Amino acid sequence: MPKMSDTDPSAFWDQVYLTKDPTRVSWFQADYDAALAQIEALNLSKDAAIIDIGAGRSGLAMALSQAGYIDISALDISAVAVEAARQASMHLPHPPTFICADLRDWSPARHYDLWHDRAVFHFLTDDADQSSYLDSLIGALTPQAHVLISCFHEDNPGVGIRSVTL
Ligand SMILES: C[S@@+](CC[C@H](N)C(=O)[O-])C[C@H]1O[C@@H](n2cnc3c(N)ncnc32)[C@H](O)[C@@H]1O
Repeated sequence: MPKMSDTDPSAFWDQVYLTKDPTRVSWFQADYDAALAQIEALNLSKDAAIIDIGAGRSGLAMALSQAGYIDISALDISAVAVEAARQASMHLPHPPTFICADLRDWSPARHYDLWHDRAVFHFLTDDADQSSYLDSLIGALTPQAHVLISCFHEDNPGVGIRSVTL
């Protein structure tokens, strides 16, 4: 398995999703109750535009759709993950819109009321990448949008994920 620094990120993440059982990765979530509760607490309408950034194989977009939200999008750099998530969601009445893109040079075609990022931002460790992330975030959001970013805990990567609401 190549390290992320040795290769381009899309190839790295494709390799992760091609070779690893999605239920055995360190960031696997067995359920989305906590994330759903966090989002429900924002009191968004069910037609609010929500995007899960770096969604990977997460089932959050599906869980949101099953909870009645009808305008869900999920973006990831890995075409492998995006296709798997798309296939898994096809049966839903309002399947999420899937976007395969590198968020660092993504030009959003529309605006969102909620930007949700779990375990993506912390991979961007240099100033240029963080600046690109912010440009995409600002370009993607409505004026009153919410931002939820969860990062690995510094002392315990892969286990402790803390969230902040900006
Ligand atoms: C640790 S996983 C978290 C996946 C998901 N958010 C979850 O909670 O299960 C990080 C995800 O970020 C995606 N990612 C990494 N860099 C990215 C980038 N520059 N643009 C878009 N997605 C990226 C990866 O493909 C991977 O799916």
